[in-house]
Amino acid sequence: MTEERGPLKPSGVWATAVGVARVRALETAREDPLFRDPLAVAFATAGGVGPGSSRPERANEAERQRWLGVASSIIIRTRFLDDLLDRATEAGIRQVVLLGAGMDSRAFRLGWPAATRLFEVDTAEPLDFKASVLRQEGAVPGCERITVAVDLREDWPSALAAAGHDQALPTVWIAEGLLIYLPEDAVELLLDRVGDLSATGSRMGLTLGSRGVLARFADDAAPGSAASMWVSEMPEDPVGWLSGLGWDAEAFTLRDRAAAYGRPISTPPQLDEGPGGLISAVRR
Ligand SMILES: C[S@@+](CC[C@H](N)C(=O)[O-])C[C@H]1O[C@@H](n2cnc3c(N)ncnc32)[C@H](O)[C@@H]1O
Repeated sequence: MTEERGPLKPSGVWATAVGVARVRALETAREDPLFRDPLAVAFATAGGVGPGSSRPERANEAERQRWLGVASSIIIRTRFLDDLLDRATEAGIRQVVLLGAGMDSRAFRLGWPAATRLFEVDTAEPLDFKASVLRQEGAVPGCERITVAVDLREDWPSALAAAGHDQALPTVWIAEGLLIYLPEDAVELLLDRVGDLSATGSRMGLTLGSRGVLARFADDAAPGSAASMWVSEMPEDPVGWLSGLGWDAEAFTLRDRAAAYGRPISTPPQLDEGPGGLISAVRR
C-alpha cells in the first residue's frame, strides 16, 4: 500500500466545510470584503474546490439564484459571528468553543486577547484535513487553539472537559452552518448540553436554517450536495424557544444584517420574512 500524501479527500457532511471555505476565499479576494480569511483559499484548493476550479453547472437560473443566495448567506453570517466574537472578548470572555468548526480559521485571523483558549469541535476527518493544510501553510494561531475530535451526537461534553474546557468560566459558543444538519431532537440535545456547560454571562452565536429552506431546496438535493443533508430549520419563534432554554436571544435576518454591512440583498423576499436565523444570545 502506498503511503497517503496530502490531505484526505473531503466527503460526506464535512465536505460542506470545504465548500464554505471556497465562498470565504472568493469574498477575501474582493476589493471590499466583509472579512478577510487568507487560509480559506488553501482549504478550498486542498479540497479540490479552489477559486480557479470549475463548479457544477447549475441547471437553470432559479437554481443559480438559490446558490448565490447560499453563498451570500455564508458571507453575511461569517461577518455577523466575527462581530459577535469581538463583542464577547471585549466583555471579558476568554473561552471560545466552535461547534462543527470545519474550516473556520478564526483562531488564526481574529485578534484575540492574551489567555484566550479556543476549542474546535468536529469529527476527526475534517480536523485531520485541516491540520494537514495548516501545517503546509505554516499557520500560527493568535490564541491557544485546542482541537476536540468527537461526533456531536455522542458524549462531546466529556471530550470537551477532558480537553480543558472550564464550565465555571463563561464561554462564547458558535454553531455556524451546523444545526441545519442535525435533526430537531439532536438540536435540542445539543443546546441542552451547551446550556449545562454555560456559566451565567456566556454567549452564543447560532445560524439556523431559515423557514421554508428545506422545501425551497427539495428539488436541488442531488446526492452528496449540501442541500441533500439539510434536515432542520428554525422554529417559528426562535427567541421564545431560546428563552425557554435559559438564553436571552436576539434574532436577525440576513437581509437586515446585509444592509447593515453595506451589502444589501437586492432580490425581493421569497417569503414573508419573519424572525431571522442569525442568533445572538446571552446566558441568564
Ligand atoms: C457547513 S460546515 C460549517 C463549518 C464551520 N462552522 C463554518 O461555518 O465554516 C458543517 C460542519 O459541521 C460538522 N458536523 C456536522 N455534523 C456533525 C456531527 N454530528 N459532529 C461533529 N461535527 C459535525 C461538519 O463536519 C462540518 O465541518
